[in-house]
Amino acid sequence: MQERLQQRITSSEETKQLAEKIGKHLVGGEVITLTGDLGAGKTTFTQGLAKGLGVKRHVNSPTFTIIKEYQGSSLTLYHMDAYRLEDQAEDLGFDEYFYGGGVCVVEWPQMIQDYIPQERLEIEIHKMGEQTREISFTPRGERYEQLIKEVLA
Ligand SMILES: Nc1ncnc2c1ncn2[C@@H]1O[C@H](COP(=O)(O)OP(=O)(O)OP(=O)(O)O)[C@@H](O)[C@H]1O
Ligand SMILES: [Mg+2]
Repeated sequence: MQERLQQRITSSEETKQLAEKIGKHLVGGEVITLTGDLGAGKTTFTQGLAKGLGVKRHVNSPTFTIIKEYQGSSLTLYHMDAYRLEDQAEDLGFDEYFYGGGVCVVEWPQMIQDYIPQERLEIEIHKMGEQTREISFTPRGERYEQLIKEVLA
């Protein structure tokens, strides 16, 4: 059965803490998609996740680059932002990132949906108020179900 879990969040700190916790549970090879409107908190979430992976550099929105790479304590984080690609994007060699053993976080995955692996953790962020967010998790595949169980238990 497809589990879908929701968390209500009331500050960006809380978003980062939840993401950090997820980051600490990653072992490599994970694909996490982040969906939500402009300013929902996708990059904020990625910053927390990066911290959980032991990334020391500041994570910001990849403005002109589609993919940014950050070294964590044992895993590499690939932060992709497909916003600028718009629909019908061409393949930029995504498989090397998705199946390369690092951790991939994708903002605006709908722009590159043909290239996103079937197995992934889908995260949706809904802006409810200035600071309030509803974050929902939909695991696609067993390893992500397991991950969500471990983290949100
Ligand atoms: N609970 C919250 N979680 C995340 N961000 C929050 C929260 N409350 C307020 N914010 C603020 O909302 C903004 C979210 O910006 P962020 O760049 O993370 O959004 P985004 O989804 O990546 O947008 P874009 O689509 O433009 O890349 C930040 O300024 C952050 O401080
Ligand atoms: Mg962003």
